[in-house]
Amino acid sequence: MSFLCLGYLKIQRQKHDLSEQIKAATKENHVRAENTQLMLSYQKGQITLRQYKVLLCSLYEIYKALEEELDRNSSHLAVAPIYFPQELARLEALERDLEHFFGPDWKKKVIVPAATHKYEQRLRKIGKQNPELLVAHAYTRYLGDLSGGQVLGKITQKSLGLSSKEGLSFFSFPDVSSPNRFKQLYRSRMNGIKLTEQEKAAVLEEAVSAFELNIQVFDDLQKMLSVTAETESQIPATRLPSSPIMQF
Ligand code: HEM
Repeated sequence: MSFLCLGYLKIQRQKHDLSEQIKAATKENHVRAENTQLMLSYQKGQITLRQYKVLLCSLYEIYKALEEELDRNSSHLAVAPIYFPQELARLEALERDLEHFFGPDWKKKVIVPAATHKYEQRLRKIGKQNPELLVAHAYTRYLGDLSGGQVLGKITQKSLGLSSKEGLSFFSFPDVSSPNRFKQLYRSRMNGIKLTEQEKAAVLEEAVSAFELNIQVFDDLQKMLSVTAETESQIPATRLPSSPIMQF
C-alpha cells in the first residue's frame, strides 16, 4: 500500500475519532466561552481579586460534583479509560486556594450563582443515570485546564500581583510533566472507549451543553459582581449589609 493510501486511511480513521469529533462539535462554543466578559477580562490581563475569588467558589462546587461522580463511576466501561485522579483531580487544589483567600472558615463563605447549581445538578444526574456522558464533562474541564488554562494561571499571578504560587494551585498539575503529551494520551483513551453511535451522539451533545453550562456560570458570576459593585457604590459604607456576598 502506498504512503498516499496510508495517509488517506489515517485521515478517514481520525474523522471517526471521538477526540476529533468532540473538538469539532464544540468549536463554536469554545469561541463563545472565550468571549464571555470574564474570559475577556482574563485575556486583557484585567482579572480582579473579586472575579478570581468568585470563580474559585464556582469551580469548587463544579469539580466537587464532577470528581465525586467520576470516583463513583470509576470502573464504568466509558469512565475507566479517562479516569486519572492522580494527574487531574482539582478538588484539593481548589480547597487550598479557597483557604488561602478566605481563611480557615472558607467553607462558610463559598457562594455561587444559580447557574453553578444547575451545572452541579446536571453532573449529579448523569453520574447516576448516564455515566458515559461524564466523558464530555471531564473533556471540557480537564483538557481546557491543560490548554488555555495554563496561560490563565500565569495571567492570574501577574494580574493579582501574587509573588508566590499560593492561591494558584488550581492551575498547577504537578503529576503532568508535559500537558501536550498528556492531552495526546487522554485523546487516545477517549478514542478507545466503546460507544454505540447513539451513545457517541449523546456524548457530543453533552459536550456542547458542558460548554454552555460554563458560559452561563461565567455570565452569572459577572452579573453577581456587578450587582454587588452597584450596591456598594449606592449604600454608605457604614450601612453595608453583612450578607456573605459582601465579603468579596
Ligand atoms: C483548548 C485557549 C477558555 C475548553 C484550548 C487551546 C487554546 C485555548 C489555545 C488549545 C487549542 C488546540 O490545541 O488546538 C483558551 C482561552 C480561553 C479558553 C484563551 C479563555 C480565555 C476555555 C473554556 C473552556 C475551554 C472556558 C471550557 C470550559 C477547552 C478544551 C480544549 C481547549 C476542552 C481542548 C480542545 C481539544 O484539543 O480537543 N483552549 N481557552 N477553554 N479549551 Fe480553551
